[in-house]
Amino acid sequence: MSRVCVITGASQGIGRAAAIRMAAEPDISHLILVARNGEGLEETKRMIGATKAKVESIAMDLSDLDAIPELVKGIHERHGSIDLLLNIAGYAEPKSLLDTTDENIRTTYAVNVFSMLAMIREAVRYMRGRPGKILNVASTAATTSRPGWIAYASSKAAVVSLSQTLADELAGTGIKVYVVSPGRCATELRQKLAPEEDPNTIMQPSQVAEVIASLLRGGENTLDGQNIIVRQQS
Ligand SMILES: NC(=O)c1ccc[n+]([C@@H]2O[C@H](COP(=O)([O-])OP(=O)(O)OC[C@H]3O[C@@H](n4cnc5c(N)ncnc54)[C@H](OP(=O)(O)O)[C@@H]3O)[C@@H](O)[C@H]2O)c1
Repeated sequence: MSRVCVITGASQGIGRAAAIRMAAEPDISHLILVARNGEGLEETKRMIGATKAKVESIAMDLSDLDAIPELVKGIHERHGSIDLLLNIAGYAEPKSLLDTTDENIRTTYAVNVFSMLAMIREAVRYMRGRPGKILNVASTAATTSRPGWIAYASSKAAVVSLSQTLADELAGTGIKVYVVSPGRCATELRQKLAPEEDPNTIMQPSQVAEVIASLLRGGENTLDGQNIIVRQQS
């Protein structure tokens, strides 16, 4: 069976690594890459290189929730199904409580939580009756305290919570929901959170992508909903 895979946040970092890794899976017929930066998406496409999967990039701001139903409908109309949805897009602007502006709270939650829920709701309309898989990226910040990152950490806790609820709500429909929580991973977002850290000493995006690919394989049927921590072992 060939599968259509949608990946948000594919213009760089973990989303880009996931796109490159998923393109190597033999049953992926279409990869749809979504993020704001069109050039970043094209670079991801270039890095994927030769693949039998057809790759489409869509540059859009996912915090525009009103645009999400059309986005998902369009993908379904063009490619005939949506089998895998990887919600990887994320935003972080680390601030302590008194420095956290309304704008920071709104943007963090709009990208990390609201757009994810809207993407899932719209994709599920088309997945029903098929063995679909949804994978949401949270963070270890969801379950351990991060003083100074209040908006980001709390938004990631919401991702864990919504994923667990949806795994149960969608049980029996054939749709599985996974939530993956990476620890420190060498990307631009991590550099913002820990500017002093040497990115060569921490987990690389390709390591997270490897775990993501293994969860999304057709045969994986032992995990669902539980928060899966992905962390480099020292
Ligand atoms: N790196 C870590 O240590 C770490 C640890 C735990 C969890 N995570 C999570 O992993 C995921 C990927 O993060 P990353 O580390 O790879 O960070 P990154 O390199 O900053 O990538 C973030 C991605 O999200 C996209 N994005 C942000 N705002 C968007 C918007 N409004 N509309 C559409 N796309 C948007 C960005 O694309 P554009 O800028 O092109 O829109 C980019 O592709 C995030 O959910 C993050 O919270 C990361």
